[in-house]
Amino acid sequence: MMAGQPILILKEGTKRETGRNAMRNNIEAAIAIAEAVRSTLGPRGMDKMLVDSLGDVVITNDGVTIMKEIEVEHPAAKMMVEVAKTQDTEVGDGTTTAVMLAGELLKQAQTLLDQNVHPTVISSGYRMAAEKAKEILDKISRKISINDDETLKKIAKTALGSKSASMSKDLLADISLKAVKKIVEEVDGKLVADLNNIQVIKKQGGSIDDTQIIEGVIVDKEKAHPDMPDIVKNAKIALLNAALEIKKPEIDTNIQIRDPTMIHSFLEEEEKMLKDMVDKIASTGANVVFSQKGIDDMAQHFLAKKGIYAARRVKKSDMEKLEKATGAKIVMNLEDLSSNDLGYADKVEEVKIGEDHLTFVTECRNPKAVSILVRGGTEHVVDEIERSLQDALHVVAKAIEDGKVVPGAGAAATELSLSLKDYAATVGGREQLAIEKFADALEIVPRTLAENAGLDPIDMLIELRKYHKEGKRDYGVDVISGKVYDMWKEGVIEPIRVGTQAIDSATEAAIMILRIDDVIASKGGGAGGAKPPEKKSEESESSD
Ligand SMILES: Nc1ncnc2c1ncn2[C@@H]1O[C@H](COP(=O)(O)OP(=O)(O)OP(=O)(O)O)[C@@H](O)[C@H]1O
Ligand SMILES: [Mg+2]
Repeated sequence: MMAGQPILILKEGTKRETGRNAMRNNIEAAIAIAEAVRSTLGPRGMDKMLVDSLGDVVITNDGVTIMKEIEVEHPAAKMMVEVAKTQDTEVGDGTTTAVMLAGELLKQAQTLLDQNVHPTVISSGYRMAAEKAKEILDKISRKISINDDETLKKIAKTALGSKSASMSKDLLADISLKAVKKIVEEVDGKLVADLNNIQVIKKQGGSIDDTQIIEGVIVDKEKAHPDMPDIVKNAKIALLNAALEIKKPEIDTNIQIRDPTMIHSFLEEEEKMLKDMVDKIASTGANVVFSQKGIDDMAQHFLAKKGIYAARRVKKSDMEKLEKATGAKIVMNLEDLSSNDLGYADKVEEVKIGEDHLTFVTECRNPKAVSILVRGGTEHVVDEIERSLQDALHVVAKAIEDGKVVPGAGAAATELSLSLKDYAATVGGREQLAIEKFADALEIVPRTLAENAGLDPIDMLIELRKYHKEGKRDYGVDVISGKVYDMWKEGVIEPIRVGTQAIDSATEAAIMILRIDDVIASKGGGAGGAKPPEKKSEESESSD
Protein backbone atom coordinates (compact mmCIF):
# COMPACT_ATOMS: atom_id res chain seq x y z
CA MET A 1 0.00 0.00 0.00
CA MET A 2 2.74 2.32 0.97
CA ALA A 3 4.35 2.11 -2.38
CA GLY A 4 0.95 2.46 -3.98
CA GLN A 5 1.21 -1.06 -5.35
CA PRO A 6 -2.05 -2.99 -5.35
CA ILE A 7 -1.68 -6.50 -4.00
CA LEU A 8 -2.98 -9.05 -6.46
CA ILE A 9 -4.32 -12.23 -4.96
CA LEU A 10 -6.55 -13.32 -7.81
CA LYS A 11 -5.56 -14.18 -11.32
CA GLU A 12 -5.81 -11.37 -13.82
CA GLY A 13 -9.19 -11.26 -15.45
CA THR A 14 -10.94 -12.88 -12.49
CA LYS A 15 -14.42 -11.55 -12.04
CA ARG A 16 -15.47 -10.84 -8.53
CA GLU A 17 -18.67 -9.56 -7.03
CA THR A 18 -18.88 -8.70 -3.38
CA GLY A 19 -21.32 -7.51 -0.76
CA ARG A 20 -24.73 -6.25 -1.69
CA ASN A 21 -24.08 -6.52 -5.39
CA ALA A 22 -23.28 -10.20 -5.23
CA MET A 23 -26.28 -10.87 -3.06
CA ARG A 24 -28.64 -8.88 -5.21
CA ASN A 25 -27.54 -10.67 -8.35
CA ASN A 26 -27.96 -14.07 -6.79
CA ILE A 27 -31.37 -13.24 -5.46
CA GLU A 28 -32.50 -11.81 -8.75
CA ALA A 29 -31.36 -14.88 -10.66
CA ALA A 30 -33.20 -17.16 -8.23
CA ILE A 31 -36.37 -15.09 -8.42
CA ALA A 32 -36.19 -15.07 -12.21
CA ILE A 33 -36.11 -18.83 -12.37
CA ALA A 34 -38.97 -19.16 -9.88
CA GLU A 35 -41.00 -16.76 -12.02
CA ALA A 36 -40.36 -18.96 -15.01
CA VAL A 37 -42.09 -22.01 -13.54
CA ARG A 38 -44.81 -20.17 -11.65
CA SER A 39 -47.22 -20.08 -14.56
CA THR A 40 -47.43 -23.89 -14.58
CA LEU A 41 -48.86 -24.23 -11.05
CA GLY A 42 -52.24 -25.79 -10.47
CA PRO A 43 -55.05 -27.16 -12.60
CA ARG A 44 -55.22 -23.92 -14.55
CA GLY A 45 -51.47 -23.67 -14.98
CA MET A 46 -50.00 -23.76 -18.46
CA ASP A 47 -47.41 -26.10 -19.94
CA LYS A 48 -43.93 -25.29 -21.21
CA MET A 49 -42.48 -26.34 -24.51
CA LEU A 50 -38.77 -26.93 -24.20
CA VAL A 51 -36.72 -27.16 -27.35
CA ASP A 52 -33.13 -28.33 -27.22
CA SER A 53 -30.30 -27.52 -29.62
CA LEU A 54 -31.19 -30.52 -31.78
CA GLY A 55 -34.77 -29.38 -32.06
CA ASP A 56 -36.12 -32.11 -29.78
CA VAL A 57 -39.23 -31.01 -28.01
CA VAL A 58 -40.48 -31.73 -24.50
CA ILE A 59 -43.90 -30.47 -23.51
CA THR A 60 -44.46 -30.54 -19.79
CA ASN A 61 -46.04 -29.06 -16.71
CA ASP A 62 -43.67 -30.82 -14.38
CA GLY A 63 -41.53 -28.38 -12.41
CA VAL A 64 -38.51 -30.62 -12.10
CA THR A 65 -38.53 -31.55 -15.77
CA ILE A 66 -38.57 -27.89 -16.76
CA MET A 67 -35.75 -27.11 -14.36
CA LYS A 68 -33.65 -29.99 -15.63
CA GLU A 69 -34.21 -29.21 -19.28
CA ILE A 70 -33.51 -25.49 -19.28
CA GLU A 71 -29.81 -24.84 -19.26
CA VAL A 72 -29.18 -22.36 -16.51
CA GLU A 73 -25.87 -20.57 -16.27
CA HIS A 74 -26.16 -18.55 -13.13
CA PRO A 75 -24.81 -20.36 -10.07
CA ALA A 76 -27.72 -19.22 -7.89
CA ALA A 77 -30.18 -20.40 -10.51
CA LYS A 78 -28.44 -23.76 -10.42
CA MET A 79 -29.18 -23.97 -6.73
CA MET A 80 -32.84 -23.57 -7.55
CA VAL A 81 -32.59 -26.50 -9.92
CA GLU A 82 -31.31 -28.51 -6.97
CA VAL A 83 -34.40 -27.53 -4.97
CA ALA A 84 -36.59 -29.09 -7.64
CA LYS A 85 -34.43 -32.20 -7.86
CA THR A 86 -34.47 -32.76 -4.10
CA GLN A 87 -38.23 -32.34 -3.98
CA ASP A 88 -38.55 -34.81 -6.84
CA THR A 89 -36.41 -37.54 -5.30
CA GLU A 90 -37.87 -37.12 -1.83
CA VAL A 91 -41.56 -36.79 -2.68
CA GLY A 92 -42.02 -36.89 -6.45
CA ASP A 93 -44.53 -34.03 -6.49
CA GLY A 94 -44.62 -30.37 -5.50
CA THR A 95 -41.50 -29.43 -7.44
CA THR A 96 -43.05 -26.26 -8.85
CA THR A 97 -44.27 -25.27 -5.40
CA ALA A 98 -40.82 -25.77 -3.86
CA VAL A 99 -39.04 -23.65 -6.46
CA MET A 100 -41.67 -20.95 -6.30
CA LEU A 101 -41.50 -20.83 -2.52
CA ALA A 102 -37.70 -20.53 -2.56
CA GLY A 103 -38.00 -17.61 -5.01
CA GLU A 104 -40.63 -15.92 -2.89
CA LEU A 105 -38.62 -16.33 0.31
CA LEU A 106 -35.78 -14.51 -1.40
CA LYS A 107 -38.05 -11.81 -2.74
CA GLN A 108 -39.38 -11.16 0.76
CA ALA A 109 -35.85 -11.22 2.15
CA GLN A 110 -34.90 -8.49 -0.27
CA THR A 111 -37.24 -6.01 1.40
CA LEU A 112 -35.63 -6.78 4.75
CA LEU A 113 -32.16 -6.36 3.28
CA ASP A 114 -33.23 -2.99 2.01
CA GLN A 115 -34.16 -2.10 5.58
CA ASN A 116 -30.67 -3.11 6.64
CA VAL A 117 -31.65 -6.29 8.40
CA HIS A 118 -28.60 -8.52 8.41
CA PRO A 119 -28.74 -11.68 6.30
CA THR A 120 -27.86 -13.88 9.25
CA VAL A 121 -30.85 -12.53 11.16
CA ILE A 122 -33.06 -13.28 8.19
CA SER A 123 -31.58 -16.76 7.98
CA SER A 124 -32.20 -17.53 11.59
CA GLY A 125 -35.74 -16.15 11.41
CA TYR A 126 -36.44 -18.24 8.33
CA ARG A 127 -35.09 -21.32 10.03
CA MET A 128 -37.33 -20.78 13.06
CA ALA A 129 -40.29 -20.18 10.79
CA ALA A 130 -39.65 -23.36 8.82
CA GLU A 131 -39.49 -25.46 11.98
CA LYS A 132 -42.68 -23.92 13.28
CA ALA A 133 -44.39 -24.29 9.91
CA LYS A 134 -43.71 -28.04 9.86
CA GLU A 135 -45.02 -28.30 13.39
CA ILE A 136 -48.23 -26.53 12.44
CA LEU A 137 -48.59 -28.60 9.29
CA ASP A 138 -48.38 -31.72 11.39
CA LYS A 139 -51.00 -30.35 13.74
CA ILE A 140 -53.50 -29.56 10.97
CA SER A 141 -52.88 -32.84 9.13
CA ARG A 142 -55.36 -35.69 9.22
CA LYS A 143 -54.58 -39.34 9.60
CA ILE A 144 -55.49 -41.73 6.86
CA SER A 145 -55.22 -45.48 6.71
CA ILE A 146 -54.02 -47.65 3.89
CA ASN A 147 -57.55 -49.00 3.59
CA ASP A 148 -59.04 -45.60 2.89
CA ASP A 149 -59.18 -46.09 -0.85
CA GLU A 150 -61.48 -43.17 -1.38
CA THR A 151 -59.10 -40.61 0.11
CA LEU A 152 -56.03 -42.19 -1.45
CA LYS A 153 -57.67 -41.91 -4.82
CA LYS A 154 -58.43 -38.25 -4.21
CA ILE A 155 -54.75 -37.71 -3.43
CA ALA A 156 -53.75 -39.28 -6.73
CA LYS A 157 -56.37 -37.21 -8.52
CA THR A 158 -55.06 -34.01 -6.95
CA ALA A 159 -51.57 -34.72 -8.27
CA LEU A 160 -52.97 -35.56 -11.71
CA GLY A 161 -55.44 -32.68 -11.72
CA SER A 162 -52.78 -30.11 -12.49
CA LYS A 163 -51.46 -32.00 -15.52
CA SER A 164 -52.62 -32.47 -19.06
CA ALA A 165 -53.40 -36.04 -18.00
CA SER A 166 -56.25 -34.69 -15.92
CA MET A 167 -58.85 -35.69 -18.51
CA SER A 168 -58.06 -39.32 -17.68
CA LYS A 169 -57.39 -38.77 -14.02
CA ASP A 170 -60.03 -41.25 -12.86
CA LEU A 171 -58.41 -44.12 -14.69
CA LEU A 172 -54.85 -43.08 -13.88
CA ALA A 173 -55.70 -42.55 -10.20
CA ASP A 174 -57.25 -46.02 -10.07
CA ILE A 175 -54.19 -47.54 -11.66
CA SER A 176 -51.81 -45.68 -9.33
CA LEU A 177 -53.72 -46.74 -6.25
CA LYS A 178 -53.90 -50.37 -7.32
CA ALA A 179 -50.23 -50.49 -8.26
CA VAL A 180 -48.96 -48.91 -5.05
CA LYS A 181 -51.18 -51.05 -2.83
CA LYS A 182 -49.79 -54.15 -4.51
CA ILE A 183 -46.21 -53.34 -3.62
CA VAL A 184 -46.59 -51.92 -0.12
CA GLU A 185 -44.66 -53.96 2.41
CA GLU A 186 -44.40 -53.84 6.14
CA VAL A 187 -40.79 -53.39 7.22
CA ASP A 188 -40.11 -53.21 10.98
CA GLY A 189 -43.70 -52.30 11.64
CA LYS A 190 -43.64 -49.49 9.09
CA LEU A 191 -45.31 -49.37 5.72
CA VAL A 192 -42.87 -48.98 2.87
CA ALA A 193 -43.78 -48.53 -0.79
CA ASP A 194 -40.71 -48.96 -2.96
CA LEU A 195 -41.76 -47.61 -6.33
CA ASN A 196 -38.84 -49.33 -8.03
CA ASN A 197 -41.04 -52.39 -7.89
CA ILE A 198 -43.52 -50.85 -10.28
CA GLN A 199 -42.46 -51.20 -13.88
CA VAL A 200 -43.71 -48.46 -16.18
CA ILE A 201 -43.55 -49.16 -19.92
CA LYS A 202 -44.39 -46.56 -22.54
CA LYS A 203 -45.87 -47.49 -25.90
CA GLN A 204 -46.91 -44.80 -28.28
CA GLY A 205 -50.27 -45.35 -29.94
CA GLY A 206 -53.86 -45.84 -28.86
CA SER A 207 -55.19 -43.32 -26.39
CA ILE A 208 -54.48 -42.42 -22.78
CA ASP A 209 -57.52 -44.45 -21.80
CA ASP A 210 -55.81 -47.58 -23.08
CA THR A 211 -53.26 -47.25 -20.29
CA GLN A 212 -53.48 -50.39 -18.22
CA ILE A 213 -52.11 -52.09 -15.18
CA ILE A 214 -50.76 -55.58 -15.55
CA GLU A 215 -50.30 -57.76 -12.54
CA GLY A 216 -47.02 -59.18 -13.60
CA VAL A 217 -44.07 -58.31 -15.77
CA ILE A 218 -44.08 -56.88 -19.28
CA VAL A 219 -41.17 -57.98 -21.43
CA ASP A 220 -40.66 -55.78 -24.46
CA LYS A 221 -39.94 -58.78 -26.73
CA GLU A 222 -42.00 -60.95 -29.03
CA LYS A 223 -41.92 -64.72 -29.24
CA ALA A 224 -38.91 -65.85 -31.22
CA HIS A 225 -40.67 -68.07 -33.75
CA PRO A 226 -44.14 -67.77 -35.32
CA ASP A 227 -44.93 -71.43 -34.63
CA MET A 228 -44.50 -71.01 -30.91
CA PRO A 229 -47.73 -70.85 -28.90
CA ASP A 230 -49.27 -67.41 -28.41
CA ILE A 231 -50.20 -68.23 -24.89
CA VAL A 232 -48.89 -70.64 -22.30
CA LYS A 233 -50.96 -71.42 -19.22
CA ASN A 234 -49.30 -72.78 -16.09
CA ALA A 235 -46.02 -71.47 -17.34
CA LYS A 236 -42.83 -73.00 -15.99
CA ILE A 237 -40.23 -70.44 -16.81
CA ALA A 238 -36.52 -70.87 -17.45
CA LEU A 239 -34.33 -67.77 -17.38
CA LEU A 240 -31.13 -68.23 -19.32
CA ASN A 241 -28.11 -66.06 -19.52
CA ALA A 242 -26.64 -68.41 -22.08
CA ALA A 243 -26.99 -68.49 -25.85
CA LEU A 244 -28.88 -71.30 -27.50
CA GLU A 245 -26.40 -71.26 -30.32
CA ILE A 246 -23.38 -73.21 -31.44
CA LYS A 247 -20.40 -71.48 -29.98
CA LYS A 248 -17.92 -70.20 -32.49
CA PRO A 249 -14.41 -71.45 -31.78
CA GLU A 250 -12.30 -68.85 -30.05
CA ILE A 251 -9.31 -69.40 -32.29
CA ASP A 252 -9.23 -69.51 -36.08
CA THR A 253 -10.03 -73.04 -37.05
CA ASN A 254 -9.88 -74.77 -40.37
CA ILE A 255 -12.10 -77.66 -41.13
CA GLN A 256 -11.32 -79.51 -44.28
CA ILE A 257 -14.13 -81.34 -45.91
CA ARG A 258 -13.10 -83.83 -48.54
CA ASP A 259 -16.29 -85.65 -49.06
CA PRO A 260 -19.87 -84.34 -49.67
CA THR A 261 -21.25 -86.72 -47.03
CA MET A 262 -19.03 -85.06 -44.48
CA ILE A 263 -20.74 -81.71 -44.85
CA HIS A 264 -24.00 -83.47 -44.35
CA SER A 265 -22.88 -85.10 -41.14
CA PHE A 266 -21.27 -81.86 -40.05
CA LEU A 267 -24.58 -80.00 -40.33
CA GLU A 268 -26.36 -82.91 -38.74
CA GLU A 269 -24.03 -82.74 -35.80
CA GLU A 270 -24.74 -79.05 -35.42
CA GLU A 271 -28.44 -79.69 -35.56
CA LYS A 272 -28.10 -82.45 -33.01
CA MET A 273 -26.26 -80.16 -30.62
CA LEU A 274 -29.02 -77.56 -30.84
CA LYS A 275 -31.65 -80.25 -30.46
CA ASP A 276 -29.86 -81.53 -27.38
CA MET A 277 -29.97 -78.06 -25.88
CA VAL A 278 -33.69 -77.84 -26.47
CA ASP A 279 -34.19 -81.37 -25.13
CA LYS A 280 -32.27 -80.39 -22.04
CA ILE A 281 -34.62 -77.46 -21.48
CA ALA A 282 -37.69 -79.57 -22.15
CA SER A 283 -36.46 -82.27 -19.77
CA THR A 284 -36.66 -79.81 -16.86
CA GLY A 285 -40.33 -79.32 -17.60
CA ALA A 286 -39.94 -75.72 -18.75
CA ASN A 287 -42.49 -74.50 -21.27
CA VAL A 288 -41.29 -70.88 -21.43
CA VAL A 289 -37.74 -69.65 -21.97
CA PHE A 290 -36.42 -66.12 -21.64
CA SER A 291 -32.87 -65.78 -22.86
CA GLN A 292 -30.69 -62.77 -22.30
CA LYS A 293 -28.61 -63.96 -25.25
CA GLY A 294 -29.47 -65.17 -28.74
CA ILE A 295 -31.39 -68.22 -29.86
CA ASP A 296 -30.34 -69.90 -33.11
CA ASP A 297 -32.97 -70.25 -35.85
CA MET A 298 -32.73 -74.01 -35.66
CA ALA A 299 -33.11 -73.97 -31.88
CA GLN A 300 -36.17 -71.73 -32.27
CA HIS A 301 -37.62 -74.30 -34.62
CA PHE A 302 -37.06 -77.13 -32.14
CA LEU A 303 -38.48 -75.09 -29.29
CA ALA A 304 -41.55 -74.31 -31.35
CA LYS A 305 -41.96 -78.00 -32.17
CA LYS A 306 -41.99 -78.79 -28.49
CA GLY A 307 -44.58 -76.10 -27.89
CA ILE A 308 -42.16 -74.01 -25.83
CA TYR A 309 -42.58 -70.21 -25.83
CA ALA A 310 -39.26 -68.42 -26.08
CA ALA A 311 -38.07 -64.82 -26.26
CA ARG A 312 -34.50 -63.80 -26.89
CA ARG A 313 -32.21 -60.89 -26.16
CA VAL A 314 -34.26 -59.92 -23.13
CA LYS A 315 -32.90 -56.91 -21.25
CA LYS A 316 -30.92 -57.63 -18.10
CA SER A 317 -33.26 -55.47 -16.01
CA ASP A 318 -36.26 -57.40 -17.31
CA MET A 319 -34.52 -60.69 -16.50
CA GLU A 320 -34.06 -59.48 -12.94
CA LYS A 321 -37.71 -58.47 -12.71
CA LEU A 322 -38.73 -61.89 -14.02
CA GLU A 323 -36.48 -63.53 -11.47
CA LYS A 324 -38.15 -61.61 -8.66
CA ALA A 325 -41.66 -62.05 -9.98
CA THR A 326 -41.64 -65.71 -10.97
CA GLY A 327 -39.16 -67.11 -8.48
CA ALA A 328 -36.95 -68.46 -11.26
CA LYS A 329 -33.18 -68.42 -11.06
CA ILE A 330 -31.13 -67.00 -13.90
CA VAL A 331 -28.89 -69.80 -15.15
CA MET A 332 -25.56 -68.98 -16.76
CA ASN A 333 -24.80 -72.41 -18.13
CA LEU A 334 -27.43 -74.50 -19.83
CA GLU A 335 -25.85 -77.70 -18.45
CA ASP A 336 -26.73 -76.55 -14.94
CA LEU A 337 -30.41 -75.94 -15.64
CA SER A 338 -32.68 -78.06 -13.49
CA SER A 339 -36.34 -78.04 -12.59
CA ASN A 340 -35.43 -76.26 -9.35
CA ASP A 341 -34.38 -73.21 -11.33
CA LEU A 342 -37.75 -72.74 -12.96
CA GLY A 343 -40.13 -69.98 -12.03
CA TYR A 344 -43.87 -69.94 -12.19
CA ALA A 345 -46.59 -67.77 -13.66
CA ASP A 346 -50.16 -68.62 -14.47
CA LYS A 347 -49.97 -67.13 -17.91
CA VAL A 348 -47.37 -66.08 -20.44
CA GLU A 349 -48.81 -64.44 -23.48
CA GLU A 350 -47.79 -62.52 -26.56
CA VAL A 351 -49.84 -59.36 -26.87
CA LYS A 352 -49.95 -56.99 -29.80
CA ILE A 353 -49.81 -53.37 -28.72
CA GLY A 354 -49.97 -51.00 -31.66
CA GLU A 355 -47.33 -52.22 -34.06
CA ASP A 356 -45.32 -54.03 -31.43
CA HIS A 357 -45.57 -57.42 -29.87
CA LEU A 358 -44.86 -57.69 -26.17
CA THR A 359 -44.80 -60.60 -23.77
CA PHE A 360 -47.01 -60.35 -20.69
CA VAL A 361 -46.10 -62.60 -17.79
CA THR A 362 -49.06 -62.50 -15.44
CA GLU A 363 -50.31 -64.05 -12.21
CA CYS A 364 -46.77 -64.65 -11.09
CA ARG A 365 -45.65 -66.52 -8.01
CA ASN A 366 -44.79 -63.22 -6.33
CA PRO A 367 -48.00 -61.18 -6.34
CA LYS A 368 -46.03 -57.98 -5.76
CA ALA A 369 -45.00 -57.78 -9.41
CA VAL A 370 -46.88 -54.94 -11.11
CA SER A 371 -46.42 -53.16 -14.40
CA ILE A 372 -48.15 -50.22 -15.99
CA LEU A 373 -48.40 -49.90 -19.73
CA VAL A 374 -48.75 -46.24 -20.66
CA ARG A 375 -50.44 -45.43 -23.96
CA GLY A 376 -51.06 -42.16 -25.72
CA GLY A 377 -51.44 -40.69 -29.16
CA THR A 378 -47.99 -39.22 -29.63
CA GLU A 379 -44.56 -39.56 -28.12
CA HIS A 380 -44.95 -36.25 -26.28
CA VAL A 381 -48.25 -37.30 -24.81
CA VAL A 382 -46.91 -40.66 -23.65
CA ASP A 383 -43.91 -39.00 -22.04
CA GLU A 384 -45.99 -36.44 -20.16
CA ILE A 385 -48.50 -39.09 -19.06
CA GLU A 386 -45.66 -41.14 -17.67
CA ARG A 387 -44.33 -38.15 -15.72
CA SER A 388 -47.78 -37.38 -14.35
CA LEU A 389 -48.34 -41.02 -13.46
CA GLN A 390 -45.06 -41.01 -11.55
CA ASP A 391 -46.33 -38.01 -9.55
CA ALA A 392 -49.54 -39.87 -8.75
CA LEU A 393 -47.69 -43.05 -7.76
CA HIS A 394 -45.41 -41.02 -5.51
CA VAL A 395 -48.15 -39.14 -3.67
CA VAL A 396 -50.11 -42.32 -3.01
CA ALA A 397 -46.94 -44.03 -1.77
CA LYS A 398 -46.02 -41.13 0.53
CA ALA A 399 -49.56 -40.81 1.86
CA ILE A 400 -49.54 -44.52 2.76
CA GLU A 401 -46.05 -44.40 4.25
CA ASP A 402 -46.68 -41.31 6.41
CA GLY A 403 -50.40 -41.82 6.96
CA LYS A 404 -50.90 -38.06 7.13
CA VAL A 405 -52.50 -35.69 4.65
CA VAL A 406 -53.35 -32.01 4.37
CA PRO A 407 -55.78 -30.05 2.19
CA GLY A 408 -54.28 -28.56 -0.98
CA ALA A 409 -55.22 -25.63 -3.21
CA GLY A 410 -53.51 -23.18 -0.90
CA ALA A 411 -55.58 -24.19 2.14
CA ALA A 412 -52.65 -25.52 4.15
CA ALA A 413 -50.42 -22.67 2.97
CA THR A 414 -52.93 -20.05 4.13
CA GLU A 415 -53.35 -21.73 7.50
CA LEU A 416 -49.56 -21.85 7.91
CA SER A 417 -49.19 -18.24 6.91
CA LEU A 418 -51.73 -17.03 9.48
CA SER A 419 -50.44 -19.22 12.30
CA LEU A 420 -46.86 -18.13 11.61
CA LYS A 421 -47.87 -14.51 11.96
CA ASP A 422 -49.25 -15.26 15.43
CA TYR A 423 -46.06 -17.08 16.23
CA ALA A 424 -43.91 -14.18 15.02
CA ALA A 425 -45.55 -11.86 17.52
CA THR A 426 -44.43 -14.15 20.34
CA VAL A 427 -40.83 -14.17 19.13
CA GLY A 428 -40.11 -10.47 19.01
CA GLY A 429 -36.81 -8.92 18.00
CA ARG A 430 -35.59 -8.68 14.45
CA GLU A 431 -36.26 -12.36 13.82
CA GLN A 432 -39.92 -11.51 14.12
CA LEU A 433 -39.64 -9.51 10.91
CA ALA A 434 -38.15 -12.47 9.10
CA ILE A 435 -40.81 -14.86 10.36
CA GLU A 436 -43.49 -12.46 9.17
CA LYS A 437 -41.88 -12.36 5.74
CA PHE A 438 -41.77 -16.15 5.69
CA ALA A 439 -45.49 -16.13 6.44
CA ASP A 440 -46.07 -13.69 3.57
CA ALA A 441 -44.02 -15.85 1.24
CA LEU A 442 -46.27 -18.87 1.85
CA GLU A 443 -49.17 -16.96 0.37
CA ILE A 444 -47.50 -17.34 -3.00
CA VAL A 445 -49.27 -20.69 -3.31
CA PRO A 446 -52.92 -19.49 -3.19
CA ARG A 447 -51.92 -16.27 -4.96
CA THR A 448 -50.41 -18.09 -7.92
CA LEU A 449 -53.23 -20.62 -8.12
CA ALA A 450 -55.66 -17.70 -8.33
CA GLU A 451 -53.55 -15.76 -10.82
CA ASN A 452 -53.14 -18.75 -13.10
CA ALA A 453 -56.89 -19.29 -13.04
CA GLY A 454 -57.46 -15.71 -14.09
CA LEU A 455 -58.90 -14.75 -10.70
CA ASP A 456 -58.13 -11.66 -8.69
CA PRO A 457 -55.42 -12.77 -6.26
CA ILE A 458 -56.05 -9.96 -3.76
CA ASP A 459 -59.76 -10.73 -3.46
CA MET A 460 -58.96 -14.40 -3.08
CA LEU A 461 -56.40 -13.85 -0.35
CA ILE A 462 -58.70 -11.58 1.59
CA GLU A 463 -61.47 -14.12 1.45
CA LEU A 464 -59.19 -17.00 2.32
CA ARG A 465 -57.88 -15.18 5.38
CA LYS A 466 -61.42 -14.41 6.45
CA TYR A 467 -62.49 -18.05 6.34
CA HIS A 468 -59.35 -19.29 8.02
CA LYS A 469 -59.73 -16.77 10.83
CA GLU A 470 -63.18 -18.24 11.37
CA GLY A 471 -61.50 -21.60 11.88
CA LYS A 472 -62.30 -22.98 8.45
CA ARG A 473 -58.89 -24.53 7.92
CA ASP A 474 -59.70 -26.51 4.82
CA TYR A 475 -60.70 -23.57 2.67
CA GLY A 476 -58.64 -23.10 -0.46
CA VAL A 477 -58.87 -21.65 -3.94
CA ASP A 478 -61.41 -23.52 -6.02
CA VAL A 479 -59.95 -22.73 -9.40
CA ILE A 480 -62.91 -24.15 -11.28
CA SER A 481 -65.72 -22.17 -9.66
CA GLY A 482 -63.46 -19.21 -8.89
CA LYS A 483 -64.56 -19.19 -5.27
CA VAL A 484 -63.04 -20.07 -1.94
CA TYR A 485 -64.22 -23.48 -0.85
CA ASP A 486 -63.69 -26.43 1.51
CA MET A 487 -60.93 -28.46 -0.11
CA TRP A 488 -61.52 -31.48 2.07
CA LYS A 489 -65.02 -31.72 0.64
CA GLU A 490 -63.70 -30.91 -2.82
CA GLY A 491 -61.20 -33.75 -2.51
CA VAL A 492 -58.08 -31.68 -3.12
CA ILE A 493 -55.76 -33.51 -0.74
CA GLU A 494 -52.01 -33.93 -0.56
CA PRO A 495 -49.64 -36.04 1.50
CA ILE A 496 -48.05 -34.00 4.26
CA ARG A 497 -44.59 -34.70 2.89
CA VAL A 498 -45.19 -32.59 -0.23
CA GLY A 499 -45.52 -29.63 2.12
CA THR A 500 -42.80 -30.41 4.65
CA GLN A 501 -40.24 -31.18 1.98
CA ALA A 502 -41.09 -28.05 -0.01
CA ILE A 503 -40.63 -25.97 3.14
CA ASP A 504 -37.34 -27.68 3.94
CA SER A 505 -35.70 -27.45 0.55
CA ALA A 506 -36.99 -23.97 -0.24
CA THR A 507 -35.80 -22.61 3.10
CA GLU A 508 -32.39 -24.23 2.81
CA ALA A 509 -31.84 -22.89 -0.69
CA ALA A 510 -32.99 -19.39 0.25
CA ILE A 511 -30.73 -19.30 3.29
CA MET A 512 -27.79 -20.59 1.34
CA ILE A 513 -28.23 -17.91 -1.32
CA LEU A 514 -28.72 -15.21 1.32
CA ARG A 515 -25.47 -16.02 3.03
CA ILE A 516 -23.31 -15.52 -0.04
CA ASP A 517 -21.58 -12.16 -0.18
CA ASP A 518 -18.77 -12.96 -2.52
CA VAL A 519 -18.87 -14.52 -5.96
CA ILE A 520 -15.51 -15.18 -7.52
CA ALA A 521 -15.25 -16.53 -11.01
CA SER A 522 -12.22 -16.80 -13.22
CA LYS A 523 -12.93 -15.60 -16.70
CA GLY A 524 -10.73 -18.09 -18.46
CA GLY A 525 -12.47 -21.08 -16.97
CA GLY A 526 -9.46 -23.15 -18.00
CA ALA A 527 -8.11 -25.28 -15.18
CA GLY A 528 -10.87 -24.75 -12.67
CA GLY A 529 -13.31 -27.03 -14.38
CA ALA A 530 -16.32 -25.10 -13.14
CA LYS A 531 -17.80 -22.85 -15.76
CA PRO A 532 -17.86 -19.17 -14.94
CA PRO A 533 -21.15 -17.35 -15.08
CA GLU A 534 -21.23 -15.98 -18.56
CA LYS A 535 -23.43 -13.62 -20.47
CA LYS A 536 -26.60 -14.01 -18.46
CA SER A 537 -25.06 -12.98 -15.17
CA GLU A 538 -23.32 -10.08 -16.80
CA GLU A 539 -26.64 -8.90 -18.12
CA SER A 540 -28.27 -9.04 -14.75
CA GLU A 541 -25.30 -7.31 -13.20
CA SER A 542 -25.46 -4.40 -15.57
CA SER A 543 -29.14 -3.98 -14.86
CA ASP A 544 -28.24 -3.16 -11.29
N1 LIG B 1 -58.72 -29.02 -8.10
C1 LIG B 1 -57.83 -28.16 -7.61
N2 LIG B 1 -58.19 -26.93 -7.22
C2 LIG B 1 -57.28 -26.09 -6.74
N3 LIG B 1 -55.99 -26.36 -6.60
C3 LIG B 1 -55.55 -27.56 -6.94
C4 LIG B 1 -56.44 -28.54 -7.47
N4 LIG B 1 -55.72 -29.64 -7.75
C5 LIG B 1 -54.45 -29.36 -7.40
N5 LIG B 1 -54.34 -28.12 -6.91
C6 LIG B 1 -53.16 -27.44 -6.38
O1 LIG B 1 -52.21 -27.26 -7.41
C7 LIG B 1 -50.91 -27.25 -6.86
C8 LIG B 1 -50.01 -28.22 -7.57
O2 LIG B 1 -49.78 -27.80 -8.86
P1 LIG B 1 -48.72 -28.51 -9.80
O3 LIG B 1 -48.92 -29.97 -9.76
O4 LIG B 1 -48.79 -27.82 -11.11
O5 LIG B 1 -47.35 -28.14 -9.12
P2 LIG B 1 -46.47 -28.94 -8.10
O6 LIG B 1 -47.20 -30.11 -7.57
O7 LIG B 1 -45.96 -27.95 -7.12
O8 LIG B 1 -45.22 -29.36 -8.98
P3 LIG B 1 -45.06 -30.61 -9.98
O9 LIG B 1 -46.36 -31.35 -10.03
O10 LIG B 1 -44.72 -29.95 -11.27
O11 LIG B 1 -43.95 -31.39 -9.41
C9 LIG B 1 -51.05 -27.65 -5.40
O12 LIG B 1 -50.97 -26.52 -4.61
C10 LIG B 1 -52.43 -28.26 -5.36
O13 LIG B 1 -53.01 -28.17 -4.09
MG1 LIG C 1 -48.07 -31.62 -8.80
